[in-house]
Amino acid sequence: MKKIKIKKNNNIQKDDDNNKKNVKRIKSSSSSSSSSSRLLDLLDMSNPNPIKIGNYTNKQKILLVGEGDFTFASSLASKLGSRSNIVATSYDKEREVKEKYPETSIHAINALKMSGALVFHGIDATRLNDYEDILLNPSSIKLFDVIVFNFPHVGGSTKDDIKANQNLLKDFFTSCNSLLASNGEIHITLRTKSSFYSNWNVEKLAKDSNLKLKKTVKFDSIAYKELGYQEVRTHPGALRDAPSSDDAITYIFCE
Ligand SMILES: C[S@@+](CC[C@H](N)C(=O)[O-])C[C@H]1O[C@@H](n2cnc3c(N)ncnc32)[C@H](O)[C@@H]1O
Repeated sequence: MKKIKIKKNNNIQKDDDNNKKNVKRIKSSSSSSSSSSRLLDLLDMSNPNPIKIGNYTNKQKILLVGEGDFTFASSLASKLGSRSNIVATSYDKEREVKEKYPETSIHAINALKMSGALVFHGIDATRLNDYEDILLNPSSIKLFDVIVFNFPHVGGSTKDDIKANQNLLKDFFTSCNSLLASNGEIHITLRTKSSFYSNWNVEKLAKDSNLKLKKTVKFDSIAYKELGYQEVRTHPGALRDAPSSDDAITYIFCE
């Protein structure tokens, strides 16, 4: 994958200022647990047996993008005892997350912060390079071993929406570049029951971004749901629940 630096335009800068304000607020509330987190990180490193769930271990530095109500991130953190090795982000601003997912997001975000994981809102997965300074934990120079985007979706289900989702993934793949460790992985999870998703042709999009498909694995929805994960829609409505993730698979790509 080519190393690309995207220049910010003035509009993006304005958005970034808002993001940074959000980010500062969130960071200050989690900083109190940072020294104990570092101690626990050291204890983790001295334990040779990794704790695992699905495709993830407590030895990895994991970036989650496009979280909805943060229940996936909190399910990982509750199993991995994660601390600062999990950085969980949403595209929605904090207020939007809480309005869209009032039943679940507040508890999930609190649990994440208690575990020492970092939580940021207003993070656009197609412009990750713009947030390098905040996403890479200042106490560590380590890049991410895994960048995860579960059920990416801009909303809608028309032919035009297929194109919009393809653009989302294409730009996401490019923007992972400056944050991913050299042997790191990019994980995309998609449902398989509908041809809507197969029409995105995720493998080709990745290939066009010079990524290789390492493998596909079944998304372990049962394990995550036992720990509190629940599926959400990009634009939740009162009438339709989010579709099940039981048929989903995770595509694991590497450079
Ligand atoms: C179907 S929801 C899945 C949410 C969550 N990943 C999960 O597994 O429950 C799709 C998510 O993609 C996010 N999304 C859409 N465009 C995005 C972008 N440019 N950057 C980051 N996330 C985006 C939406 O905000 C929404 O939360």
